[in-house]
Order: sequence, then C-alpha cells, then structure tokens
Amino acid sequence: MRRKLAAGNWKMNGTGASLADLSELAQRYPDSAIDILICPPATLLHRAAEVTKTSGVAIGGQDCHAAQSGAHTGDVSAQMLMDAGASSVILGHSERRVDHGETDADVRAKAQTAMEAGLLSIICVGESLEQREAANTLDVVGGQMAGSIPDQSTGENLVVAYEPVWAIGTGKVPTLEQIAEVHDFMRTLLEKRFGESIGQSIRLLYGGSVKPGNAAEIFGVSNVDGALVGGASLKAADFSGIIDALADA
Ligand code: PGA
Repeated sequence: MRRKLAAGNWKMNGTGASLADLSELAQRYPDSAIDILICPPATLLHRAAEVTKTSGVAIGGQDCHAAQSGAHTGDVSAQMLMDAGASSVILGHSERRVDHGETDADVRAKAQTAMEAGLLSIICVGESLEQREAANTLDVVGGQMAGSIPDQSTGENLVVAYEPVWAIGTGKVPTLEQIAEVHDFMRTLLEKRFGESIGQSIRLLYGGSVKPGNAAEIFGVSNVDGALVGGASLKAADFSGIIDALADA
C-alpha cells in the first residue's frame, strides 16, 4: 500500500511570523497515519524543522541545484536542504519551468542529485491550458515524465505530482474524470518503465486549487495518493481540512 501524502508548498510566502501556523499544525498532528509535508521558503527551512521536530510534519525544499556545491550564486544544494532539516524537495514545479526556463533534463539532473543526497524528490508535471485544449495533455505529461524522472527512481525516493498549469492558483480544477485519466496514465507509464512492483509503489499527487471543500472528492479518484497544495497550505486551519480529508479517504 502506498502511504498517503499531503504536501504543502508555501512558494515565496512566509517570514518568521508564519511559523505560528506551522507550530499550530505540528501541535495538531503530533504523529500521523499519513505523511504530512510543508515546503517553506529556504530562509525558513531550519526554523521550520525545529518547530516541527517532534511532530508528524516533515519539512521540504522547493528546489535545489543539480551540482553538489560550487560557484552558483543564490542557489541551494540538496545537501544544504538535508543539513537544514529537509527530507524532501519539490522539483520542476511549473513556476520554475516557466520563470527559470527549467527543462526536463534540468529537472532530471536535480532529481538525481537530490536522490543521491537522500532526499525524496517530488517531480511536478502538467499541461498548459493551450495544450489541454489541443488534446495534448497525455503527450505532454508522458514526455515530461520520460524526460524528468531519473532511472534510479523508486517508491522511496520519488513522488510525481500532476499539476495542470491552468489549475494552479486559479480556483479551476479538472473534472474527476480528467484527473483519473491522467493519473491512470501516469501509473501505467511508471509500471512500463520501472516494472509493476516499483511502478505501483511510486506515489502520485494531484495539485492545483485543492481546498478543504474539494479535497475529499479528489482523494476518491483512482491513483490519487495525496495532494500538492499551494495557497491552502499557508493556514493551518485550511491545510488541516485537507489532511483530515486525505486521512479519511
Ligand atoms: P495552488 O498551488 O494549490 O495554490 O493552486 C498548487 C501548487 O502550485 O503546487
């Protein structure tokens, strides 16, 4: 059985004051039957890891460099994330693919380094509205998976998040049938590439405008093992609603 995962991505939001919400979340989940992860900005990683230390909430980064160290001003390495207390890292989020021109090859190289450092990589894929309207969704998702996911992937070091770009931060959500179609397709691709056992063990998250109000129905969709949540992960009350819906699914 795949362990369910509720992952929150704070993006470029949060200062020291936001740790109050994280502390509230940590107190609410001293331990948990599902995996709970918060990915704060890099500046808060260490403090966030301290606040959640003895709780069921784990901490992750939002990106890392493909190199282990070196002359890369402004970048953060996988080892630095580990050192700050992170256990996971989000890679290839559409905002990084768009804002920083990250390619599938870039994402794959980062994931390789993250896996070698011992981090769980959450690799994001997803189509734009234009690509969906042109009926290219499965081609785009399949291509991103083939290009971004390293060969050494297993259920222990990889999670894949399906995030339609048009659903991120917009309040628009695909139909449950559309989510099922993509997630079933992703499962088939993973089984073909890694064999049934590993392919079945890799968790698949849905991301894009997940809220407490729509979480339960999304978690009922086949091959949805959890969610990657942006806006609704910033407040403990909202994220708790999503965590509880996942635990009950
Ligand atoms: P959202 O973001 O939940 O605010 O739509 C999701 C994401 O970008 O991971």
